[in-house]
Amino acid sequence: MLQLIERQASINAPPAPSRLADPELLADIANEAAASHNLSPNSDRVQLFSRLLHDIRIGGAWKRTGGGRLPETESALIRNIAPQYREKLTLLDLGASDGITTVELVRSLRARWHGELTAYLTDRNLSLHRYRLGPLVEYRAVDGEPIMARIGRVGLRVARQRHTEDGIYTGLERWYLGFKALRKRLRFDAAISLVNPIATSEPGVVVKEMDCLCYYDDLVGKLAAIRASNVLNLGYFTPTQVQQAVQYMRSYLADDGCLVISRNSEQAASEVENGSVWLKRKDRLQWIEDFGSGSEIRDIVGKQGCAPAARI
Ligand SMILES: C[S@@+](CC[C@H](N)C(=O)[O-])C[C@H]1O[C@@H](n2cnc3c(N)ncnc32)[C@H](O)[C@@H]1O
Repeated sequence: MLQLIERQASINAPPAPSRLADPELLADIANEAAASHNLSPNSDRVQLFSRLLHDIRIGGAWKRTGGGRLPETESALIRNIAPQYREKLTLLDLGASDGITTVELVRSLRARWHGELTAYLTDRNLSLHRYRLGPLVEYRAVDGEPIMARIGRVGLRVARQRHTEDGIYTGLERWYLGFKALRKRLRFDAAISLVNPIATSEPGVVVKEMDCLCYYDDLVGKLAAIRASNVLNLGYFTPTQVQQAVQYMRSYLADDGCLVISRNSEQAASEVENGSVWLKRKDRLQWIEDFGSGSEIRDIVGKQGCAPAARI
């Protein structure tokens, strides 16, 4: 569907269904923020940045996030991070989107413990690439997936979906993507960061591009805690992929390291967090507690063997 691109976005509501959020606003906010100090998660521009991501889908997964949406996972980490790591804590937020929730977690932990803290803000998609040919602009993911095409204020979301009866592309998207010769002539113009400026300026936050289905040697045995919220969903990954990702995470945890996996469900005017907590004991993940109705992948995590994670 062709949609009008909303130039003035509101922090209180996503664009109307007939509108698309303007990715250029992300770059504008980042430029403005570069000139200001002491950003707060509550500031309008910081929240607007996150709000704009509600409207971006990459690889079939929405970039949706927002301040204040993961308090239960924060409490679960505070309860379960082993005391020996509180003086020197390294943790990883998987699928952190723009990182606003990573910053909130870091600030909560710092308010309680005063040791050294490093938080990896990780996500598979940390920027959009803008390509141009005359008035035609196409935004692409880092892996080249087309996300949105526009001419002026008229846009077409072309990001692939995971589940449609017609396959991953529907009529108008397929029609646009069929202009292969024209699209080949588009030239790279700029990269637009999808990381919230509050996260890039937060001490101790390290931004790392990371695909949970790939294995990272440099992280093995290094982490006191991992949070995976709203990313390891069965709508996004197959059970086999989830199991693979969990095996990798288990290998990244240090002994007694803490894993929190959760998914928010929308209820009336609010969101509820459903999640579970495990601790790594003797190279196995031991279930410790649930919050809400527990993680939807708890049984898959429970099937973990002791085998070392395989490379893919
Ligand atoms: C719905 S957002 C969740 C953001 C944040 N954790 C929260 O709960 O507010 C899901 C994020 O997972 C990321 N993602 C999707 N596939 C991924 C993968 N294979 N590896 C790492 N991150 C991935 C997406 O880019 C997106 O930013």
